Amino acid sequence: MERSLIIVKPDAVQRGLIGEILRRLEQRGLRFIGLKLMWIDRELAERHYAEHRGKAFFEELLSFITSGPVVVGVVEGPRAIEVTRKTMGKTDPAEAEPGTIRGDLALSIAQNVIHGSDSPEKAAYEISLFFREDELVSYERAIDRWIMG
Ligand code: RTP
Ligand code: MG
Repeated sequence: MERSLIIVKPDAVQRGLIGEILRRLEQRGLRFIGLKLMWIDRELAERHYAEHRGKAFFEELLSFITSGPVVVGVVEGPRAIEVTRKTMGKTDPAEAEPGTIRGDLALSIAQNVIHGSDSPEKAAYEISLFFREDELVSYERAIDRWIMG
C-alpha cells in the first residue's frame, strides 16, 4: 500500500474542476485519507517545489501555485504514486494522452491542473508538509475488497 499527495492546482479550482479531478482519482479506486482546501503561501510553495529551485520556471511556478486556493489530498492504494501519475498524464498537457486528467482538461505546461508526488520519498516529504498525522484517517471501505484485492 502506498500514499501520494495530490494538489488540485489554482487553475483547476478557478475553472470549477475540483469535483471532476477528485472524481477521476476516486473512480480509479484510490481511497482519499486526507483532503482540504487551502491557500499555499510562498514559504510552503518553496519547500514543496525545492527540487526546482534555480530552474528558469521556478519563479513562475511559485507565483502560479500561490495565485489562488488549491485542494490538497492524500490518496492511498496499491502503487498509488504510479497510478496517480498515470491518471494525471504527462507534465506537458500537449503530450498527455487523451483519457488522462491533463490530456482531457489542460493545454498549458504552466497551468496543468494537478500535482502528484513522483516517488515514495517525495510522497512522504510532501504529505508531511501539508498534513499533520492526526489529519489523515485510516479506514477501509466495504468495496475495497473488490478494488484492492
Ligand atoms: P507537478 O510536480 O506539479 O506534479 O508536475 P510534474 O511532476 O509533472 O512536473 P515537474 O517536473 O515536477 O515540474 C513541476 C511543475 O513545473 C512546471 N514546469 N514548467 N516550463 C517548463 O519547462 C516547465 N517544466 C515544469 C509545470 O507546471 C510542472 O507541473
Ligand atoms: Mg513534480
